[in-house]
Amino acid sequence: MGERETVSLCKAYEDLFLIGAAVNRYTLHSEKQLIQKHFNSLTAENEMKFEQIQPREGQFNFDYADELIHVSEQFGHKLRGHTLVWHNQTSDWVFEAPDGKELNRELLLERMRRHISTLLTRYQGKFFSWDVVNEAISDQKGEFLRPSPWLEVIGEDFIDHAFHYAHEADPDALLFYNDYNESDPEKRDKIYQLVQSMLKRDVPIHGVGLQAHWNLYEPSLDHIKQAIEKYASLDLQLQITEMDVSMFRFDDHRTDLLKPTEEMLEKQAERYEQMFKLFVEYKQHISSVTFWGVSDAYTWLSDFPVRGRKNWPLLFDTNHQVKPAYWRVLDQISSVKG
Ligand code: GLA
Repeated sequence: MGERETVSLCKAYEDLFLIGAAVNRYTLHSEKQLIQKHFNSLTAENEMKFEQIQPREGQFNFDYADELIHVSEQFGHKLRGHTLVWHNQTSDWVFEAPDGKELNRELLLERMRRHISTLLTRYQGKFFSWDVVNEAISDQKGEFLRPSPWLEVIGEDFIDHAFHYAHEADPDALLFYNDYNESDPEKRDKIYQLVQSMLKRDVPIHGVGLQAHWNLYEPSLDHIKQAIEKYASLDLQLQITEMDVSMFRFDDHRTDLLKPTEEMLEKQAERYEQMFKLFVEYKQHISSVTFWGVSDAYTWLSDFPVRGRKNWPLLFDTNHQVKPAYWRVLDQISSVKG
């Protein structure tokens, strides 16, 4: 029997939604062939986060974003901007009082505005969507917003301000609120409540980003479906922004595996199949699905939450070859197209 020929994932899905990948300054080159063939959207994994793009006040480092644009223009990729306001990977100076002054709400808002407007003005028309605020909702039961300097110094309306600043700088960009554990019922309801209240206040927000850092066991398919339905009822776009399917439960710290077992690969293929079946079902609401990486050769999960432990969460293996999960994702679209 002849080998089945691989086809471009993003071409297969082009009538439904974009297929994206997070890339960094190494994988942009080391994974070039896969990036060209299978993906039509790119996101910077780390290089456009606050601490990397504005490491010191007023000193911007645009090299990598410019390179990303160059590559995307060559191969026709769309670009998602990630991320403008976050409690993590944000330079210390942002929250430090300047000499002789105190750090107050006005000053922090001004720093936020300058950061956002510098990026969105420079990249107007280049990045079609932006994660404006990342992970502002708390994972703790009974707590709404996550404690952070943004919240502490500015107050709850820091989120609204970020979206207003972004919209002023690039009125055409699609603006997203992005979070993880998005399918957990309690957190889902908080995210929904936040976005719904923003819409009531006429805050310019256009979508919810579901990070989708999932694993072989969690979240359940029902929880994913309920989350998609709930967010979709806000009548905004949904984007799956950071998808990966880890081989380990979050609290599983085993380190003995040198490669994934056949059972794991099969279970992962099944999970991807079920998840993409849902994405296809909700295609009217979903405008892009981005993987948090390209192949298992490099994934942030090989260091998190267990340092140095290899993980295999993506559709292509460590040698850039397709995995069982790739075929199952592809087959979801063939079944729609008939
Ligand atoms: C979060 C962030 C991403 C990235 C991942 C881990 O999901 O949004 O930028 O840091 O964690 O890579």
